[in-house]
Amino acid sequence: MRNKRELPQAKRALYEYVIGQLNSLFEGSKNTLCNLANASSLLYYSLPQTNWTGFYLIKDNKLTLAPFIGEVACSHIDIGKGVCGKAVATNQTIVVDDVKQFVGHISCDTDSQAEIVIPLRVGQNVVGVLDLDSPYTHRFDSVDKDYLEQIAQIITHSCDWADNTLIDTDLLH
Ligand code: SME
Repeated sequence: MRNKRELPQAKRALYEYVIGQLNSLFEGSKNTLCNLANASSLLYYSLPQTNWTGFYLIKDNKLTLAPFIGEVACSHIDIGKGVCGKAVATNQTIVVDDVKQFVGHISCDTDSQAEIVIPLRVGQNVVGVLDLDSPYTHRFDSVDKDYLEQIAQIITHSCDWADNTLIDTDLLH
């Protein structure tokens, strides 16, 4: 396991490395579950000072917990609620410097002090969010925002969204 506390010499260089790793991981895999799981792990173990990294996907008009690394989290979030639901409702990335100052923030891990939520877009539609938490206030800046938006796009483009059931559907007949 890499040392998560080691601060990068250059944040941009770290993100460029992560993007290269993601592209390699996604070569030959369009499976949504597989790619989201690997992306969660790569981001969690690569980005210092993060304590939760993962995805919520919109199912039955609610955000539903998807692959993640971190403490257990709430299973469902209504659109418009919390940081995640608000990012979907506004179709905007939300950077929260201090979660205590964000009205309606949903606390899953009491260690979390800062958060960034990026909408996942497939065509014109928001299908879910990428969510990262940090135990340090002011952890995410504009460099993180720019790169994580780019990363969210790479992740969504890597997945075959039409084929995201968890098992082969013919096994059900
Ligand atoms: N804090 C989020 C909830 C999800 S957890 O951070 C994993 C929110 O307010 O939407």
